[in-house]
Amino acid sequence: MQPYKLYQSQYIVDNKEGFVRDLSHSAKSMYQYGIFDTSLKYGSYTQYNIFGVSSPSVHMYHLFQEIRDIARENIPTGKLWIQSWINHHYENELLDWHNHSGSWHGYVAIEPWNTVTEFEDFVVENKVGQIYWGPGGLRHRVVAMDDYPFPDKRITVAFDIMTEADFTGDDILPTHNFGCIPLL
Ligand SMILES: [Fe+2]
Repeated sequence: MQPYKLYQSQYIVDNKEGFVRDLSHSAKSMYQYGIFDTSLKYGSYTQYNIFGVSSPSVHMYHLFQEIRDIARENIPTGKLWIQSWINHHYENELLDWHNHSGSWHGYVAIEPWNTVTEFEDFVVENKVGQIYWGPGGLRHRVVAMDDYPFPDKRITVAFDIMTEADFTGDDILPTHNFGCIPLL
């Protein structure tokens, strides 16, 4: 059985231009205020939560609700936290192999252009409004499927979901992941 699920948000399809506008503005603000650092290949994603940065976008409010519902469907009980960031890249900035340490990981294709996300054991074709949900710790990278420059930046919203199990042990002090907030 495949270890992941794909959901399709009609709301994102119907409101893509609004998402692109709001998230582009958010990214620009983060560069302006020094939260985004272009010298960091993977971005400074622990320094913010994209849902905070983009507030009060009603589109992002709606997406937050969709992610919350998907999280509860897949993790029926217990406390959950979310860290969420934006991937905002031209074709020559796509993320090479990496993984994420939370219990669960997902990403939302806002404007993926013609890309796939390759995991070690499967490949996800990206399309507007698709929400990927899977276990954390699976290595993956993003690959463009043609040689043409993107018409504009590729935009996805990615997230890690942490459970209480992620924070057990001797040290349960704040983790310096400044974008991590309670979800459910
Ligand atoms: Fe990733």
